[in-house]
Amino acid sequence: MLNGKRILLIVAGGIAAFKSLELIRRLRERGASVRCVLTASGARFVTPLSLQALSEDRVYSDMFSLTDESEMGHIQLSRDADLLVVAPATANILARMAAGLADDLAATVLLATDKPVLAAPAMNVRMWTHAATVANVETLKKRGVTFIGPNDGAMACNEHGPGRMSEPEEIVAAIEAMLTQNRPLAGKRALVTAGPTREAIDPVRYISNHSSGKQGQAIASALARLGADVTLVSGPVALADPPGLRVVHVESADQMLAACLAAGAVDVAVCAAAVADWKSGRPAAAKIKKKQGAAPPALELAPNPDILATLSKPGAKRPALVVGFAAETENLVANALDKRKRKGCDWIVANDVSPATGTFGGERNTVHLISDKGVEDWPTMPKEEVAVRLAERIAGHLGRTRPAAAAE
Ligand code: PMT
Repeated sequence: MLNGKRILLIVAGGIAAFKSLELIRRLRERGASVRCVLTASGARFVTPLSLQALSEDRVYSDMFSLTDESEMGHIQLSRDADLLVVAPATANILARMAAGLADDLAATVLLATDKPVLAAPAMNVRMWTHAATVANVETLKKRGVTFIGPNDGAMACNEHGPGRMSEPEEIVAAIEAMLTQNRPLAGKRALVTAGPTREAIDPVRYISNHSSGKQGQAIASALARLGADVTLVSGPVALADPPGLRVVHVESADQMLAACLAAGAVDVAVCAAAVADWKSGRPAAAKIKKKQGAAPPALELAPNPDILATLSKPGAKRPALVVGFAAETENLVANALDKRKRKGCDWIVANDVSPATGTFGGERNTVHLISDKGVEDWPTMPKEEVAVRLAERIAGHLGRTRPAAAAE
């Protein structure tokens, strides 16, 4: 059942829009409330009146209507929903979502939301298999959008193949799965670190590394999708903040440690950040000048705090599970086993960061999960899949432990 759940249904312009009427009816039968945003092209296929009659709520279309904005701005539309459903999700709206456009009310709501989004694509088979749509879907999946369908079959354009929008009952089942089931981490708090740290040498120079933050962000999003309340502490990265979680931006290792401690008691901490081991021992207040004929200045280094080791220290506030990462360029597993022992974390995820692997900044990762059960070698897979697997393992483990609040 979907009792009390609030669905914001975005109806874009495709022939499958007629199925959205049935979708509204079925969602309301299951106890959900449905509010609709209708695009201009969607209104060529279904009328606002039909949507309004079935949803028993007003239909929002106009980005610039003073009435719409004063009564229900685009931020409020998303705030008031538990889930955004785009059905039908046409090639055009998927492209606009992937590009981050905000050129009408539907696109603006989708850009501004921090709620989960489910898209039910519907389009001609060649549009669905076109490289542009394939890339857009890939991008949106990486950002956490969930897809249902499209199904294979005969289409309104007299062609056959993948492109038919999923049936309303299938979409309802996907919505129920997203909102009610498979949230084993609901009520659990998670802390994830991601990205590099930047250690100032002077106001214009710094020490850092090649971490892009992709692996850490993917883990934070995967944990959030399983229902965890996630704080992501991120070093400087070029990625947009993932939706649906709290993001704290930091620069240095000292700031990262402070932000982790400020996050309070958590059930699980995953340290995927590539924290600089050293910082400048004496960062200069002004730019260090190059003096003609003088020898280059010596850089005196000082150790950074070890965030993973700090979080792993035994005590009442220690998370039930602390997961570290080990980035190695040689003796991967042996070094990672040693790191797990030295830092005192429960699990460590070992990955080879030699330049040839492309792990830093790349899309894929090959990891070994080391726990007290031994070493598990995972096949090479996209970082999102590493994240999903790890999040599922964490959920399995935490299912057997007390919540953070109880440990305080
Ligand atoms: O960001 P991407 O481009 O996606 O790349 C992902 C990644 C390679 C950065 C990631 O998968 C990874 O391996 N992260 C850990 C990088 C690292 O710093 O590893 P390490 O072996 O130097 O450190 C071991 C562990 O101690 C890590 O969990 C690290 O976060 C932690 N650490 C290290 C130093 C320090 N001063 N404080 C720490 O907490």
